[in-house]
Amino acid sequence: MPELRLTDIDAIVFDAYGTLFDYASAAERCKAQLGADWQRFSDTWRRKQLEYTWLRSLMGRHTDFWQVTSESLDFAMAAINRQDPSLRALLMQQYLNLDAFPDAIAALKFFKGASTKVAILSNGTPSMLAAAVNSARLSRLLDHVLSVESVKTFKPHPSVYQLVIDQMKVTATRVCFVSSNGWDAIGAAAFGFRAVWVNRMNLPADELSVHPEMQLATLTDLVAMFQHA
Ligand code: LAC
Repeated sequence: MPELRLTDIDAIVFDAYGTLFDYASAAERCKAQLGADWQRFSDTWRRKQLEYTWLRSLMGRHTDFWQVTSESLDFAMAAINRQDPSLRALLMQQYLNLDAFPDAIAALKFFKGASTKVAILSNGTPSMLAAAVNSARLSRLLDHVLSVESVKTFKPHPSVYQLVIDQMKVTATRVCFVSSNGWDAIGAAAFGFRAVWVNRMNLPADELSVHPEMQLATLTDLVAMFQHA
């Protein structure tokens, strides 16, 4: 299997939702109200949230990720015939303090201790990302938290990945980009980053002609690769 070494990169950039933060923890915390199907509800919410980012980008009708998250939640609630403003408010509130995956904290600590810049690049708004980072106590482990709001479109538009180059003053071929969203890792690879797909859900690869440089199961495996290379 190909390997990446710390000497190959100047920056490691992580996707936020699904990679560092467990978006399913929002619905999981409300499973008493949502019932046994909370996971299916969570999947619908996430799927629509992503669809809306792509559709809005194609239509040239950007709105921020907080709005997209709230509109996709409306769809998910309508899909289960649920009208419950207090549950809706509670679910949105959870998005501001999602659980960080345990392997995310360990990975950020490892890279912070190495001589590489560490960042997040996300569809999230600056305030959503600040809330999630602060509640998971990750801020001291990150050099940059970059939001698509600077360019007002969503991943995988190349202008989003360009933010890393412009704001971190690094070369694309010396950036390792890590995402659990296969399509995001593909977008990053197409842009020219060294892209790693952390395939947490053991999904088949998307067929979009471009492939991430490598596929790993967890961020623990990512750390192990850099430690042993
Ligand atoms: C993000 C979405 C793709 O954080 O999860 O950008």
